[in-house]
Amino acid sequence: MSFALFSQQGLYFFMKWLHFFFGIAWIGHLYYFNFVQGAFFAETDAGTKNNVTSKLVPRALWWFRWGAMLTFLTGWSMIEMRARLSGWELFMTSWGTVILTGAILGSLMWANVWFVIWPAQKVVIASAQAVVGGGQANPAAAARGARALVASRTNTMFSIAMLFCMGAAANLPIQMGPESNLTLYWVLAVGLMAALQANALLGKTGPMTTIRGVISSGFVLTAGLYLLMEFCL
Ligand code: HEM
Repeated sequence: MSFALFSQQGLYFFMKWLHFFFGIAWIGHLYYFNFVQGAFFAETDAGTKNNVTSKLVPRALWWFRWGAMLTFLTGWSMIEMRARLSGWELFMTSWGTVILTGAILGSLMWANVWFVIWPAQKVVIASAQAVVGGGQANPAAAARGARALVASRTNTMFSIAMLFCMGAAANLPIQMGPESNLTLYWVLAVGLMAALQANALLGKTGPMTTIRGVISSGFVLTAGLYLLMEFCL
């Protein structure tokens, strides 16, 4: 008797299953922060906000950032497993192009979590904890919180397009024709993602300020990337 799970494909599937689990833990918290907690903070009193920031937010951020790390690691190990079997030509296929687009979006999101949101939130949490303990707020906390918000809104927008790519790679039959232009695709797709990421680091929330706006932005980005895939591949 042979166990499917102990085959090479089984190992790949096992990694994918873990990837779903960590991905849900990560993106679930991202949506909680953006769709639930922000609106609650906008209407609650300062004391409650400081209490939540010092006791609930650190717990939620723990699941959030480690979910991001493990989703990132399981995702890239699946790409490595497939690239080891089929070589670099994998990235000349429609699966490779679509999954790599999703992986770039997911990796930008992972970097935003670990290098923008988490360092900024540490300052915000320490400031709220100081206030709860009877001390002074850190005057730098508001600006750090504002930067974390732009990165978090950008991640929410990216997540919608990223999930489309994750699902589309194996399930949406995007054809690569003889006249497909991969170079043009990558120039335009990377240009678009880089511009939005630059805004996460330096710009403002713009249309992503409201929940409706950030969800709409995610759908518009997805439509833009999908059209690029259909026209260039
Ligand atoms: C951080 C960067 C990420 C990388 C590098 C990555 C990479 C991958 C890879 C290589 C696959 C396998 C696709 C296939 O076998 O056809 C996959 C599938 C998948 N990923 Fe990700 N992923 C990332 C983030 C995420 C996140 C945050 C989620 C959110 C839940 C997610 C959800 C999924 C789903 C649902 C599938 C299954 C698609 C299918 O089998 O049809 N991924 N991902």
